Parts: sequence; C-alpha cells; structure tokens
Amino acid sequence: MNIVILDTSQQIARLAAEQVIGVVQSCESPVLGMAAGATPLLLYAQLIHCYGKGQISFRSTSTFNLDEYVALPPDSTNSYRYYMQSNFFDHVDLQAKNSYLPDGRADDLQLAAKRYERTIASTGGIDLQILGIGTNGHIGFNEPGSSFASRTRVVALSDSTIDSNRHYFGESGAVPEKAITVGIGSILDSRGLLLIATGEHKAEAVRAALEGPVSPICPASAVQLHPKVTVLLDRAAASQLTHRDDYIKCQQTPPGLASATPR
Ligand code: F6R
Repeated sequence: MNIVILDTSQQIARLAAEQVIGVVQSCESPVLGMAAGATPLLLYAQLIHCYGKGQISFRSTSTFNLDEYVALPPDSTNSYRYYMQSNFFDHVDLQAKNSYLPDGRADDLQLAAKRYERTIASTGGIDLQILGIGTNGHIGFNEPGSSFASRTRVVALSDSTIDSNRHYFGESGAVPEKAITVGIGSILDSRGLLLIATGEHKAEAVRAALEGPVSPICPASAVQLHPKVTVLLDRAAASQLTHRDDYIKCQQTPPGLASATPR
C-alpha cells in the first residue's frame, strides 16, 4: 500500500489526477470506477483542467460509478448522475454511452444490480477505482457489516450516512434511505484502488481502515487485502494514524506516485 500524506487538498487532487491520467494513457480502453461526494470534487476539477490543456482525452474511457440513490430521478440535483454530469462528464470528451451509474429507478432493482455487475465485467473490469470513505468507514455505500464478498446490490443506508447526507437535501428534503452500491467484492476486483480522504472528521475511519483489523465492521479495511492501493491523505485525515511518521518518511522520493516507496 502506498500511503501518501500531503499538505493540501489541491496537492492531493494533482497527484490523484496524475494517477488517473497515467491509467487512462496506458490502457487502450480504460475503465475508471468513480465516486461521488465532496472528496473527489477537486480531482474532477483537475482532470477537467488537464483535458482543457489537451493533456488527456477520455474518448475511449468508460466509467462506472460506485453507487446511486434508489428512486431519485437522474435530473434531481441530488442524484449522483446529476453530480457526475455537472462536475465531470459535461466538461470532458467522455462519450455519453460509456458513463454508467447503477439504475436506482429500475422496476426490478435486484436485476438492475446484477446487470450492472455484468456490464462492468463485459468491459473487462475496472482499471482504477476511485474511493472516498465515510466517517463510519463505508466505501461506496457498503455500510459496516457488509460482506467482503458482496457484489452490486440494494442496500439500506445507515443512520450516520443518512445524517451526513442531510445537508445536501436541505431542511425539508427527504434523504433517501436506500441505494444501489457496487459491493466490496466487486471493488476488490478492480486492478487498482485510489482512496482519498481529507479532513479531521475522516481521521478515525482512516485509522480503522489502514491500521485496524481487517473486518466488515470497517468496510474500508478491505483495501488492506488489495495488492495495488494508493491512499492520499491530508494531515488532518492522517492525524490518528499510529505509524504516520513512517509513511511520511517513505515519501522523501515523491511527488510522483511511481517513485513512492511501497509500504
Ligand atoms: C459516494 C461514495 C461514498 C463517499 C463517502 C464519502 O459515491 O461512494 O462512499 O465516498 O460517503 O463522502 P464525502 O466525500 O462526501 O465525504
């Protein structure tokens, strides 16, 4: 695992974008796993910036988002489809037919989840999965207790996730209580993982994920089982790590993930 601790969110976004661009440029038909939420916004802005400067094209890229709320129409400003369109897809040359999100409005949600899993497989699988982390340790919407073998499925959101999402929906808006999420087993099938966390409110979840026991109690601890993981943290998110000085020592060679010493 490469754990990289940086001073600013902007540095994190630049390094994350470098990694995404590296994958896109090295694959003939790149497949990216995307996350929504506040954390990857600067990364998407940086990718748009690089696209604008002609440094990268997403013409042959396919994207699969981790999750979508159940029952929200795609044009709802709180849907992850809307989030992706407005924060990334609408600003780059990704082909519309190649951007996938789980269908949270399908009549048969279980079938939609199975189909999503099959579509990912039909593209050859995900080359790089971008991940945020919930304060309760969730990845995607795999809440504590999710099996490490879980696949794409309908899930009930935990009270803490519903609470964390409340500010997006405003005082009167009903926060969805269900979502379709890619499973932890599906996430672990990706050829590479890029986990990003910023802010002190993520520090405890980050510690549990990276240094705690590998356990479904902290779904993000599953990343310890993956052979190719990069974790980008700011100092606040890294503040609870017992071994953070060792990770920082390992970083005398970067910036540039390729040169970062593996853990
Ligand atoms: C969203 C997702 C979630 C978020 C997590 C952190 O697609 O997969 O796991 O990454 O809830 O959200 P933020 O970044 O808003 O703190």
